[in-house]
Amino acid sequence: MAHIDIIPVDLPGSESKKPLHFTGDIFQGFNSPCRFEGCVEQLEVWGEIPLSIDGTFYRVMPDHHYPPFVQNEIHFNGDGVISAFKIANGECDFQQMAVRTHRFLAEKRHRRALFGKYRNAYTDNPIVEGVLRTISNTNIVFHRGVLLALKEDGPPFAMDPTTLETYGVWDFQGQIKTPTSTAHPKFDPLTGDMVCYGYEAKGEGSKDVVVYNLDKEGKKTEENYIIFPLTSITADIDRIKRGGNHFAWQPQLDQAYGVLPRHGAKSEDIKWFYADNAFHGHVANAYENEEGKIVMDLTVADGNVFYFFPEDESKVSAPARVKFTSPMHRWVFDPKAPTGTRYQPYELFDTQGEFARSDDRYLGQPYNHFFLCVIDPTKPYNFQKCGPPAGGLFNCYGHFDWKTLSKSVWFAGDCSTVQEPVFIPRSADAPEGDGYLMGLVNRLDELRNDLVILDTARPFEDGPIAVIKLPFKLRTGLHGNFVEAKEIHEWNQRLPRDQIPRQNIEEVIKPKPGSVYRDGLKPIMSGILQPVAAVNGTNGVNGTH
Ligand SMILES: [Fe+2]
Repeated sequence: MAHIDIIPVDLPGSESKKPLHFTGDIFQGFNSPCRFEGCVEQLEVWGEIPLSIDGTFYRVMPDHHYPPFVQNEIHFNGDGVISAFKIANGECDFQQMAVRTHRFLAEKRHRRALFGKYRNAYTDNPIVEGVLRTISNTNIVFHRGVLLALKEDGPPFAMDPTTLETYGVWDFQGQIKTPTSTAHPKFDPLTGDMVCYGYEAKGEGSKDVVVYNLDKEGKKTEENYIIFPLTSITADIDRIKRGGNHFAWQPQLDQAYGVLPRHGAKSEDIKWFYADNAFHGHVANAYENEEGKIVMDLTVADGNVFYFFPEDESKVSAPARVKFTSPMHRWVFDPKAPTGTRYQPYELFDTQGEFARSDDRYLGQPYNHFFLCVIDPTKPYNFQKCGPPAGGLFNCYGHFDWKTLSKSVWFAGDCSTVQEPVFIPRSADAPEGDGYLMGLVNRLDELRNDLVILDTARPFEDGPIAVIKLPFKLRTGLHGNFVEAKEIHEWNQRLPRDQIPRQNIEEVIKPKPGSVYRDGLKPIMSGILQPVAAVNGTNGVNGTH
């Protein structure tokens, strides 16, 4: 396994440290800190893992390594920790490691939190001024031989797919200079292109979005557009400077969809289409139909899912997620329509959920099958035993088919919630949607996780064909992906590990000259909000985390 950093404590301020103690609602019950790094070989398996599954399921979770010093801390401000479930020969080994971001290393040096509020450098301890503060806690993808741990507010961090060692910041051999890079890239299965963007691309609160396409080698595609769904939520640099939240919900603001030519586009080529105020979930898929129209499918909620980014920070209300509706919306946009055109959903799939996934082999192409973490409020929930459900009451996995409008749903139980799944094809040439859905189930009463495998050839109601039992609990995670073992192996041959540059820890966490450690720093408190019309750019997902 990879090494675990042991960093000596030798900087000012460490002498006054106190034992770690996590307090606050976000660290209760199932979401109490995990902070585990290491391996568990040969996890217990109930049922049978199909022998054809040979690869690793990587997922990332925010997991605070140190107790925060800011008030109203949120889950999204936790350090990125990568879990790897390595599956081969019907068995599963588990490994977990925190991403060695600059922020993680600086705090580890001082053995305490130094960075303040979520995406607000104005609340940091002065000793870390200028230190890159992204925490790589939102997605983990495989690209050309390395894992990229991603968060919307910074560059990717590259990791070794086998050892989970962190190599350091990844700028694609110096090609990408913008300070932000999406945590939600899309991979074109026809070309291998990685389609990326970064919003707030000219600095915090800026309205600029940069779009780029990596590794364009491969055959030319017929797909013509990139589409950016913009949720009704804004960033405001003045609010940030006052120590307020990076984002604020805007109930008066429309949702917007920006359509940009995929190849050779200029910024003036973008068209904006609008629909009534709403909160976007993640995209199932999008493609051009035979008429040249753009079909786009994503869940859309009718209220502010991120209650911790309210319109008015003085009025944070407790989560009531279950009261929202969030059906799968199908939009059909005409790219020839004038900018400013308003749209209504073309079709709604009657379900309620989030974290849509589809068969990645069909991304950007006509498709039928998608999968969701489903909220079924008619199913029982044992509140007495479990308390409030960590991360939302996603209590089912669902398999949906646009062609037949059929659905197949597995209920995880009255003490369980589920995390984002991945789809694994039964074989490389299996029909669309034929294979396995794999996802983490939170056993809230046992404070433990199971990794379950559902077979799409069977009704989900029949339950998993395999349950891989983790002997402890993780935290609520965000995104993840499955990578075939042969792909990792091929890249290990093509990209020798010793040729990948490592970051210099001393350099990246070095305090700026004159920086002073201040113990017990309190954040600036927010003032009156002055929303601006800046929006968080996305490519088919809400990128507010
Ligand atoms: Fe996301």
